[in-house]
Amino acid sequence: MDYKELMEKAEKAREFSYAPYSHFNVGAALLAKNGKVFTGCNIENATFTPTVCAERTAFFKAISEGVSKFEALAISGGKEGEPPSFCAPCGVCRQVMAEFCDENFKLVLGTKENFGVYGLNDILPFAFTKKELK
Ligand code: THU
Repeated sequence: MDYKELMEKAEKAREFSYAPYSHFNVGAALLAKNGKVFTGCNIENATFTPTVCAERTAFFKAISEGVSKFEALAISGGKEGEPPSFCAPCGVCRQVMAEFCDENFKLVLGTKENFGVYGLNDILPFAFTKKELK
């Protein structure tokens, strides 16, 4: 699967975003090494704290189904009712990526017409990882 196709899946997943408080809709498409794609959207809550990002929804769907080796993640985000624009993942989601993704993992950020491809180390240098706990 190419990155444009992965971004299209993220844009489609964004349609399911539940964001009545922030009015900021995010979709994610996570490509696993076995070729499967897991999508996610942000899901907000009236008490705010349980809100989960699109990226973690996608990761936790995959991991909870026994898939934990990943190749790439496309993220599509932007204000409700507007076309998506560049949306970088939050720090918590970056930390989840650091737990499960290797140095070859790629982030696809932007839109299907105009996206950039980044390494995890580009967006989370000096990560605290499981290596520290050995
Ligand atoms: N959000 C995501 O889902 N992913 C990101 O990368 C950034 C932020 C969500 C969380 C919340 O529902 C809304 O966007 C505003 O922060």
